[in-house]
Amino acid sequence: MEKFIVEGKRPLTGSVKIHGAKNAVLPILAATVISGRQSVIYDCPDLSDVSESLKILEFLGCSTKREGSVVTVKSESIITDIIPEQLMLKMRSSIIFLGALAARLKSATITLPGGCEIGPRPIDLHLKAFRQMGMIIDESCGEIYCDAKNLHSADIHLDFPSVGATENVMLAACGAQGITTISNAAKEPEIEDLQKFLNSMGARVTGAGTNTIYIEGAKVYNDVTHTVIPDRIETATYIAAVLITGGDALLTNVEPAHIQALLSVLNETGAELILKGDTLRVASPNRLLAVKRVRTYPYPGFPTDMQSIFMSLMTTAQGTCVIAENIFHDRFRQVDGLLRMGADIVVDGQLAVVKGTPTLYGAHVSAADLRGGAALTVAALGAQGTSEIENVCYIDRGYERFEDNLRLLGADIQRR
Ligand code: EPZ
Repeated sequence: MEKFIVEGKRPLTGSVKIHGAKNAVLPILAATVISGRQSVIYDCPDLSDVSESLKILEFLGCSTKREGSVVTVKSESIITDIIPEQLMLKMRSSIIFLGALAARLKSATITLPGGCEIGPRPIDLHLKAFRQMGMIIDESCGEIYCDAKNLHSADIHLDFPSVGATENVMLAACGAQGITTISNAAKEPEIEDLQKFLNSMGARVTGAGTNTIYIEGAKVYNDVTHTVIPDRIETATYIAAVLITGGDALLTNVEPAHIQALLSVLNETGAELILKGDTLRVASPNRLLAVKRVRTYPYPGFPTDMQSIFMSLMTTAQGTCVIAENIFHDRFRQVDGLLRMGADIVVDGQLAVVKGTPTLYGAHVSAADLRGGAALTVAALGAQGTSEIENVCYIDRGYERFEDNLRLLGADIQRR
C-alpha cells in the first residue's frame, strides 16, 4: 500500500487549479448510459472512482476514451443490464447506475454498492422511490434485481434530502413517461450540474438547487458536450492546506457560490480570503482563531465532506471548536491520527471538541477514508517534523495528483 511522507511547516505559496468535481462527474458518467449517444465531458478529474465508473460503462458495452481531462463515452450499444459485484463494490456511487439502467433498458441486476468507511450507507430511499415509480425490486443476498418494464413518472417525496437518491431518481425519470417530481430533494451544486447535463442530452429537468425537481424524459436523446463544475471539496482542502502552513497562495477555477458555508465559517478565523472572479487568494497572516461551533448539514449547510479537513485546521487554532457531524455515523475516523500528531480532541458521539494547540508534531498515521486521509495530509503539512500517511489509495479516490499539486505549492511531500 502506498503512503505519503510529509515534512511539515513549509508555508504553501504559488497557484493551483481546482479540478472538475468528483461528485458531479460520477452521476454524469452514469447518465451517459441513458442517451445511446456520444457524451464528451471536459474537466473530468483523473480519479480512481472515475476509473471505476469507466470500467462499469465498458462492462455494460459503452466505449470510453480519456484524452487528458476530456472523457468521451459512446453508449449506443448496451449489451447487458448486469453490473458484477467486483465492479459494484469498488465505490458507493456505483448504485447510481441502477437509475440509468432502469431508464435505458428497463431492467438492472446489481449488487449492494461498496464505498467509504464513514458509516452505514443504506439505499432504502433510492429503492422506496423506485418502487413508487413502478419498478419491481427484489433484494436478496446482497443482489438487487430490478424490473422496470412498468416504469412510470411519480411524485416522490424523499424522507431525507439524499444526494444519491435525488440523482438516481432524476436518472430513472428520464426513462419514464410524463413528469416526475422530487420534493425534499438534495440541493447540492452537483445536482444542478447533473440537471444541466440531462437537459443538454434532451431531457427536460428544472428545479435542481431547490427543494423540488421536475424531470421529463425524451424519446430520442442527443450527443452532449459538458464541462464539469469545479470541485468544492478539493477547493476546501487546498484552502486548509495553505492556511494551516501559514501560506499565501492562489486557487484558480474556484466557484465561490459553492463554498459560501466554508467562507462564512472561515471569516471567523482571521484568514484572508480574497476573491477575484474564479481566483481565490488564501493567506493566513498569523495563528487562526478557532470557530466556536460548526455543524454539518445538507447543502447549503456546512458540507460533511469538509468536516474532517476543517477539523485538522482547528487543531492549531487559538481557542476551542465544537464540531457536530450530523450526516454520517462514523466520520471522525481522522481523530486517532490527529491525536497521534498531538492534537487535543475529545469525541462524544457525533460531537468532537477540538482545543487548539500551538503546533502539531509529525507522526505515523493511517487514512481510513477519503476525506479523513486528506485531513491527515493537511495536518501533516502543518506539523513540525516528518509524518507518514498510510493507505493513500483512499485519497486517490477523490484527489487528482494530490501530492504533485501540493509540491507545486511548495510542500515537501513524497509518495512511497
Ligand atoms: C454523496 O453521497 C457524496 N458522494 C458524499 O461524498 C457526500 O458526503 C454525501 O453525498 C452527502 O453530501 C457522491 O456524490 C458520490 P446521501 P451519498 O445519500 O449520495 C443517508 C465524498 O467524500 N441515506 O446524501 O451516499 C446516509 O446514510 C463522499 O466525496 C439513507 O439513510 O449521500 C447518510 O446518513 C462521501 N438512505 C445521509 O442519508 C438512503 O437511501 C446522506 O447520504 C440514502 C442515504
